[in-house]
Amino acid sequence: MQTISPAPNSAPKHVNAVIESRPASTAAPHSSVVSVNGVAVSYPSAHGIFQALSNVSLDVARGEFISLIGPSGCGKTTLLRLIADLAQPTSGELRVNGGTPNQARTDRSYGYVFQSPALYPWRTAISNVMLPLEIIGLSPTERQQRAAGALAAVGLTEAAGRYPWQLSGGMQQRVSIARALSLQPDLLLMDEPFGALDEITRDKLNLHLTDLWRERNLTVIFVTHSIPEAVFLSTRVVAMSANPGRISRVIECPFPQRRTLDLRNTKQFLDVSQEVRDALSDAYADE
Ligand SMILES: Nc1ncnc2c1ncn2[C@@H]1O[C@H](COP(=O)(O)OP(=O)(O)O)[C@@H](O)[C@H]1O
Ligand SMILES: [Mg+2]
Repeated sequence: MQTISPAPNSAPKHVNAVIESRPASTAAPHSSVVSVNGVAVSYPSAHGIFQALSNVSLDVARGEFISLIGPSGCGKTTLLRLIADLAQPTSGELRVNGGTPNQARTDRSYGYVFQSPALYPWRTAISNVMLPLEIIGLSPTERQQRAAGALAAVGLTEAAGRYPWQLSGGMQQRVSIARALSLQPDLLLMDEPFGALDEITRDKLNLHLTDLWRERNLTVIFVTHSIPEAVFLSTRVVAMSANPGRISRVIECPFPQRRTLDLRNTKQFLDVSQEVRDALSDAYADE
């Protein structure tokens, strides 16, 4: 679990922090869903100022799938939290849907999926998915319908009545994706959602996610440590390095939107993966 994310048992509180605020504003039309401009984040440390992010700029267009990849501590989670208005930049500017991250948060413009599924153990799968809908005050019928739709979207209709402990790790993570989808956001922020899963389960969820992305025309910003996962899912891979946290290279993944696992055996896929590996080799030099 990353340093600044909540511990698994406190994560639901954190989820609430994202979804409790009330809608308030309308954002001006803007071509980028997310626009990050010269952003820096620094923290005081025993050795002076520590730069978690330095001069980060990134524009994400509607419908893009962006993966952030890089060594631990290079600021991937920090960048996601800035976009989600869960942290503030020391300098520079961020826009989400043309407005401030705070407006996007109050408009509930994004769904956030944490590394740990962060489900309430005393609630069934569907009742975990309904939680944000309860908080925004939807009627019981509407909650039920929306939550059932979100569970169906991740292939979990059958598991609606089960408790988290009756679900595999992959199923729990799908419930947490359904919960993020239940508010019907256009933008999905995902922090290493599949990091703890075995490879076969991860493959299945990658396929699910790429289908959801295409069918729902989502914009996704996704954190991962896996090069094949990043290249398989993304329209662009953002390679980052640490000390200070920064973007070292952006690599295009010029594949069709509809993706199946056999893409990974193509020469083009292996070439792009090698490009990402090269971009990261310096970043991992001191690991
Ligand atoms: N609130 C904070 N106070 C001090 N240091 C922090 C804080 N949040 C993050 N950091 C530091 O910033 C760096 C980047 O953290 P993070 O974004 O979690 O990296 P990543 O997700 O890439 O592993 C880490 O070295 C982390 O310890
Ligand atoms: Mg992290």
